[in-house]
Amino acid sequence: MEKRELSIGFFDSGVGGLSVLKHAREQLPKENFIFYGDNAHAPYGERSEEEIRALSFACCDRLFERGVKALLVACNTATGAAIHAMRERYQIPVVSIEPAIKPASESKEEGKILVLATPFTIEGARYHRLVDRVGCGDRLIQIPCKGLADLVEKGEFESQEIAEYLQKKFEQFPEQPVSGIVIGCTHYSFIAPLIQTIAKQRLSGSCTLYDGRYGTVRQLRRVLEQDQMLSQKGSARCEILSSAGPESVALMRKILEA
Ligand code: DGL
Repeated sequence: MEKRELSIGFFDSGVGGLSVLKHAREQLPKENFIFYGDNAHAPYGERSEEEIRALSFACCDRLFERGVKALLVACNTATGAAIHAMRERYQIPVVSIEPAIKPASESKEEGKILVLATPFTIEGARYHRLVDRVGCGDRLIQIPCKGLADLVEKGEFESQEIAEYLQKKFEQFPEQPVSGIVIGCTHYSFIAPLIQTIAKQRLSGSCTLYDGRYGTVRQLRRVLEQDQMLSQKGSARCEILSSAGPESVALMRKILEA
């Protein structure tokens, strides 16, 4: 088979990365994909860097061994812990997601920017370097969302549990204008409408959402184009693999096709 007709490997700790895959299927309908969800070990965001790195390697090794032509790390947390090491480890393009604070900070509207992400992402050195590079630290309010990815893993994106979780989070903030909310974890993309509704009830300002998945898929296309690796013959077919077995695969298939 020609190299450019190989599949693209997607990886996340669990269901979150499917939000990136859904967008990639729309944008790159002539590609085929293999998605690996490490549902048995999710959530990653409350683990140590060493653990996240070892788990990420184990998953991406499987995708690499399947002969994918590129890897997309659809997990902000794994990006923070392991992206440099992954780029050294695999001899194929590795594209990754990170919190979209740059586009959020380019908004002319005055106000704070809330960054919702896992505790690991927010505490990580890579995120802090990104904030320094963009130079918008004084506008940001970081909100580590311990436990939220776990609720999203259940696959019910409008549950009372999630609504109550978000209400509690936003209650902590004094009334102040919020120009943007960065969806800094791919799991949260599935609950973005609920995040915006609850933020608007509690806070003022436009609360515009910024989700890194769109830029990440654009980057994937750019990289494949540059390397002349865009497929002509695929059909947005997705194979789904999980460390947690058939029930997780079935749930992820349902989420992907919804
Ligand atoms: N979906 C992942 C992210 O983008 C990780 C969530 C988790 O496993 O904690 O950060």
